[in-house]
Amino acid sequence: EQQTEEVEVFSTPSYACQRRTTLDNHNAVLTDALSLLAENAELSGEDGRGVAFRRAAAALKALPLPVTRLTQLGGVPCLGGHSLRVIKDVLESGASPEVEALRRSERFKALKVLTGIFGVGVKTAGRWIGEGILTLRQLRDSGPTLNRAQRAGLRHYDDLNRPVGRAEAAAVAAVVEAAAGSVLPGARVTLIGGFRRGKQTGHDVDFLITHPEEGREAGLMPKLVSWLDSQGFLLYQKTNSNSYLEAAEGPARPASNMDRFERCFSVFKLPEEAGRGGAGAGGEGGPRPWRAVRVDLVVSPVSQFAFALLGWTGSKLFERELRRWAGHEMNMCLSSHALYDHRQSRYLRASSEEEIFAHLGLEYIPPSERNA
Ligand code: GTP
Ligand code: MN
Ligand code: MN
Repeated sequence: EQQTEEVEVFSTPSYACQRRTTLDNHNAVLTDALSLLAENAELSGEDGRGVAFRRAAAALKALPLPVTRLTQLGGVPCLGGHSLRVIKDVLESGASPEVEALRRSERFKALKVLTGIFGVGVKTAGRWIGEGILTLRQLRDSGPTLNRAQRAGLRHYDDLNRPVGRAEAAAVAAVVEAAAGSVLPGARVTLIGGFRRGKQTGHDVDFLITHPEEGREAGLMPKLVSWLDSQGFLLYQKTNSNSYLEAAEGPARPASNMDRFERCFSVFKLPEEAGRGGAGAGGEGGPRPWRAVRVDLVVSPVSQFAFALLGWTGSKLFERELRRWAGHEMNMCLSSHALYDHRQSRYLRASSEEEIFAHLGLEYIPPSERNA
């Protein structure tokens, strides 16, 4: 049966930042399986394996057609033996026994539930599982000490695990714009993260805020947060102040991807208007008056805006690959603040994402094609 059939052999560049990855994924069954293995590795503290599975999944996401045979993958990078075995299983029998076993495993389910609580990381979840806490009920009953973030996370668990839609993101944007406009006239608010890449839903809503006059943005975050709080929009917030000083710090710590902008992790109390939201209403009682939504705010000086925009638009893997490309292929160091060229021993300025891609010797990839 196979002799006459023409089968396309795929090939794609090895860095995700060299590829155009839209949300139109032709290999979702395969990439879901690999993403689950990535998630499990990350939840088990094995970040290296996690990245390997993420890279494998991303390579498949960039293919123009569904894969039907293993022999089509000769020119596809980032596929290790383990990933290929999973792909083979899925192609031959529709599912991977390893992945299906993982889906059913008590430990994986517990890790998902517990790290699904805002403020609970892998270490805390692992510790609780060691103490026999596998469910939210058991967590509530055994009452370990929770920090402020975790208490908010547990209180709003259902809301925070319900995807945020575009209309809700727009409603949050209106609130953030009103806040910024009120405490710093002329401030500019930009939607970043997954929504900027065109996603229809997200786990949170991300914003980057700046002001066209350099320096005017300094100290903005506390004012913004206190306006939001005074208007009753905040259920939780934690603000980190800016600690980035280019001159003092230089490229000395290039590997860090923790940036040092003024930023705020928050949980918004978003009023639910009739006709919007209501997805969680589920029938009884009509729409609730409000829902909790995770919101991330970042403030950047306008001189760093392009770097912040590029660094916070994602996807996470796309960002990671950009930094790897910069380091390994260009001898440069890219962060959400700046691009440093080690060969020339100087910072390369940019006022747009296009300029940064050009500095990096990469074809420009628009946000909608950064869904690696
Ligand atoms: P969903 O929210 O799940 O829809 O996806 P998302 O792509 O918006 O993910 P998320 O909100 O977690 O992150 C948005 C972007 O911000 C991603 O590109 C991350 O790499 C980036 N990001 C998140 N945390 C940090 C951080 O601490 N520092 C920097 N520089 N970037 C971060
Ligand atoms: Mn996001
Ligand atoms: Mn975020």
